Amino acid sequence: MIKVVVCNDYEEVSDKAAEIMLNLVKNKPNAVLGLATGSSPIGLYQRMIKDHQENGTSYKDITTFNLDEYVGLPLSHPESYYSFMHRNLFDHIDVEEKNIHIPSSQGSDLQANCDAYNAALSEYQLDIQVLGIGSDGHIGFNEPNTPFDSVTHITDLKESTIRDNARFFDNDISKVPTKAITMGISNVLSAKKIILIATSEHKAQAIYDTVRGEKNIACPASALQDHPDTVIIVDKAAAKLL
Ligand code: F6R
Repeated sequence: MIKVVVCNDYEEVSDKAAEIMLNLVKNKPNAVLGLATGSSPIGLYQRMIKDHQENGTSYKDITTFNLDEYVGLPLSHPESYYSFMHRNLFDHIDVEEKNIHIPSSQGSDLQANCDAYNAALSEYQLDIQVLGIGSDGHIGFNEPNTPFDSVTHITDLKESTIRDNARFFDNDISKVPTKAITMGISNVLSAKKIILIATSEHKAQAIYDTVRGEKNIACPASALQDHPDTVIIVDKAAAKLL
């Protein structure tokens, strides 16, 4: 069942997402968090950091799993998702490095990295999965036509995703990686609770297809229609077509 929460703006969207996340972390100090990168969860992460600093909420027993990582960037690249997560969240809370999991795109045997990530995931139960959504309906980097039963795999990014993400690479499409390693849709669906954050009119069609469209691999996020506890938190612009 998908529940949709429509907010006035990004600040309110982030407040709502933080309310759900902090309620979990405060009540379950050893929770397992599935995390996303991109613009959508930054406000959520800012609120988690502020709460940690002001109220002392601890992450020392928290385990995290990120959705994805670009292939072809060194970890030290500022736009690697490893760098993104440390800069925007991990460096500012007391999560232990050993409890952080981000799919590795380093080395020559990427399939072995996918297998290792699936194996690590299978040892845990995700209590919550944070998602953004692509304008093409992708979740993680599960692009349109990815099977709903997919697990962690290597994927080619769609043209529209490369264009959308060029803003992080000096608006130069040629600098955007073309491949990524991503959790599969079935990994995402295994989370007990899912929160999907989307703002701006650019996401309105994808949100419509996710919530009101037919469940179909053409819109990967429509797989969430089968999930028992998904909350989509949107601003008015992203909810425009609902
Ligand atoms: C990020 C991820 C992607 C983004 C999506 C939206 O880890 O997996 O699915 O959530 O591309 O990105 P933003 O939030 O930048 O619009």
